[in-house]
Amino acid sequence: MTTHHYCLNTSLNTVEFDLNSKRQQLWSAVIDALAYMDGTLSMALLHELMAIERYWAFPSLAIQYRLQHYVGLGQFNLALQLAGNCQAQLLLARQKSYAPFNTFLDDLDKPLYEDGYAKIKKPCFDLLIIHPNPVAYVELYDRALKALQQERDECYYDLVFVNNIADAALALISNPNIQAYMSVSGSLMYSDSALANQCLTTLQGLARTEDNYALISVDNALIFTQIAAIIRPEIEHYYLSELAFAALSPHYFQAFHRVFYHEHPFKDLHHYVLNGIRERYNTPFYNALHAYSKKPKGVFHALPISRASSIKDSLWVKDFYEFYGENTFNGETSSTQGGMDSLLNPKGAIKSAHDKAATCFGAQQSFFVTNGTSTSNKIVTQANLVPDDIVFVSSDCHKSIPYAIMLCGAHAVFLETNAVDDFDLYGAVPLALIINKMQQLSQAGLLARLKHIILTNSTFDGLIYDVEAYMMAILAIKPDIVFHWDEAWFAHAHFNVLYHRRHAMNVAKRLNVRFQSAAYRYLYDTATDRSHLPDPDRVVLRVYATQSTHKSLSSFRQGSMIHVYDQAFNHDHFFEAFYIHTSTSPNYQILASLDIARRQMALEGYQRTLTSLHLAMMIRQRIANHPTISQVFRVLSKEDIYPTGNAEPIHQPHDFLASIHEFNSEGFVIDPTRMTVDIAKTGMDGNQFRKLLIDKYDIQVNKTSRNTVLFIVNIGATEQTAHYLIQVLAEIAERLLTRQTANTVIGHKKAPIQLPQRRHYHPLFSTLSVACAHGEGVEVIDMRQAFYAGFQPQNISYVLINQDSLAAAQQGQTWVSASYVTPYPPGFPVLVPGQIIDAPLLSYLSTLKIKEIHGYHESLGLKILHERYLNSDNIK
Ligand SMILES: Cc1ncc(COP(=O)(O)O)c(C=O)c1O
Repeated sequence: MTTHHYCLNTSLNTVEFDLNSKRQQLWSAVIDALAYMDGTLSMALLHELMAIERYWAFPSLAIQYRLQHYVGLGQFNLALQLAGNCQAQLLLARQKSYAPFNTFLDDLDKPLYEDGYAKIKKPCFDLLIIHPNPVAYVELYDRALKALQQERDECYYDLVFVNNIADAALALISNPNIQAYMSVSGSLMYSDSALANQCLTTLQGLARTEDNYALISVDNALIFTQIAAIIRPEIEHYYLSELAFAALSPHYFQAFHRVFYHEHPFKDLHHYVLNGIRERYNTPFYNALHAYSKKPKGVFHALPISRASSIKDSLWVKDFYEFYGENTFNGETSSTQGGMDSLLNPKGAIKSAHDKAATCFGAQQSFFVTNGTSTSNKIVTQANLVPDDIVFVSSDCHKSIPYAIMLCGAHAVFLETNAVDDFDLYGAVPLALIINKMQQLSQAGLLARLKHIILTNSTFDGLIYDVEAYMMAILAIKPDIVFHWDEAWFAHAHFNVLYHRRHAMNVAKRLNVRFQSAAYRYLYDTATDRSHLPDPDRVVLRVYATQSTHKSLSSFRQGSMIHVYDQAFNHDHFFEAFYIHTSTSPNYQILASLDIARRQMALEGYQRTLTSLHLAMMIRQRIANHPTISQVFRVLSKEDIYPTGNAEPIHQPHDFLASIHEFNSEGFVIDPTRMTVDIAKTGMDGNQFRKLLIDKYDIQVNKTSRNTVLFIVNIGATEQTAHYLIQVLAEIAERLLTRQTANTVIGHKKAPIQLPQRRHYHPLFSTLSVACAHGEGVEVIDMRQAFYAGFQPQNISYVLINQDSLAAAQQGQTWVSASYVTPYPPGFPVLVPGQIIDAPLLSYLSTLKIKEIHGYHESLGLKILHERYLNSDNIK
């Protein structure tokens, strides 16, 4: 055996995140072992591979036996050829569509050429059959279903057979290519694989809080529907019963998309399976736009650019037409007729697209928005607040939110998030703080005016709330509060089991089931301490999520969605707010791309998110373990971003099941796909490092701070790009280390800046504030009054940030902001109208070297309210 093998095995142990990635590595390891003609290692690896391959249809077990046979005979060349072809097919399956079952086993023994192994460019997926007796039935199913598949079908499928629900759970979690499953009555619970059983137990734990009847059912098939709904809520599921229709409990009809009764379900199964895929594939608005763009039309209304009429024959702007191409302009129309629909009054294609999005994202209703989550936030806020309401909002919220609150005339309580001075970033709002402020409002008789709470989940830096715990505790105090979760960065969450308990729509659904259950009522009725338990008779679930589809899924920029789970939804209020903020000429390309983004996630959301998690885990591990990179770079842990005082920093687990377990526990977690890397040791600051990455290596990053750079692994990331990043970090680290002498440190952390934390307001604008005895209090701000006071020239003046103002501030002078001031980063308003500018705030602003500070006039300085105005008697 060579050293090479040992290296491979080490890497196997370090980057296997889930079974899918382990499988890919095992194939590489097998090929390596065959190339080195190491029979013992080849056999051992093949054996390991066979235990995993049962969860995939291709390559079949027959191939594994053949490989073992060749190795047994010492025919390494033949084995290598066969294994190499299998691996090539597997790689192709990810890059292109192909139908493996159409490849004859014997063909795989021969060299394959490009057109030889990718003849059929159609999607091919796996259909999972959970059958108590696979040995006797697998061949029958295989033959019967393959006979039904025809060339004209849009896609093909292959079969994965298991006889128990533990294996079925592991198959579903590991093989993202499974698109539907059928349970046959009588299947078993446990597997001979310890991993499968462990997987089942972990998922049962995740499902159990829902108090669902099915989890205690006597039929494993019903239990499995609950497990599967957590892993892959989007896939269709069928049941084959041995009982007659009348004898079957109604639970089955609720739990499954379709129940079959007869002995030969093949024809029905085949049609339902394909139809299920068609339903998810169908993109009503994109289809309508596509069809519309193909129809011949004479345009006698606005929009001369439609069909490129005004540009394609222009001598001066023709290049624009050539760059974007014909279809872009054919799809430009303002029509709401002829198969199209109106976003402002959706009844046709857009309505159907909305309904499909709601199903896909687990909402009661979903709405497309064409001006980003900046607009979605304004719509949701304006739909639910009236003047003089009180709203809780995290201090580091996106600026669209304070603007929206001001438009409503509501009063805001900014909830402080923990500041991490070393890395210039903010964590999240502790639950205890929210509860404390709610209790104080209650004591002051103001709780009835608190209507809405807005939290950012996940934060820019990937910190994710324990959504369920927060909602439970808050509903226990105020059972009808509106939750507005700003999930601008979290549209992918619904598509991976990892985030199941951590995003708005799923938690709303879980809580609804829970509050209606007898088990919860018993818990509530018998509890001696109900402080954390919402009253099931009074609770009204009102939950909104706003997501920038363009940030984490495949839509054009500004594509955003509002997802609603609101038991007191007011259609009129919502649409009024929608009309206020929506253009009467919404961009159809953006709408079509939202429809497409939904289609993609409905069909490959799990696969995409699994791959990005795997790549992110790989990058994290490489940074931590690489001998050179680890000396210079470090990925911040949860403990860095939300310190809990644990002496031991908590590391992200590198195993999928362990991660699911961690994400299902209490407290904050970090989205593995967002990596904040400490770059202090490079001696560069974030801006310099960003410049180096883009200028020299063509790597674009999203956010930097003085000591950090944020890398986001999105659903488009590939192994190649991940490896490239590692290679670049290694190169930079290598250079720095060779430059340093034995006794010098390469770089050092830039001195921390004290980040502003608690906001204070001028009493004129915070008349609703509640001050409690020990000075904590609830400071409530009416930004609107201060903002509009600033529109009168006689009420304002400016203060420059310079030595003089800093010295004055040190002496105790303060000013009152007349506007919003938003530096990038951190990207949220550190000042709002009415807020007091004191020494710490001014000194923070003076340390910012960034060029982009919205609301700051370079020549004039900060806009402030004049003393004259603040002291005048005529203010209301
Ligand atoms: C938390 C948060 N909410 C909302 C937005 C606005 O989203 P959009 O750019 O889609 O308007 C952003 C943008 O960065 C954000 O970070």
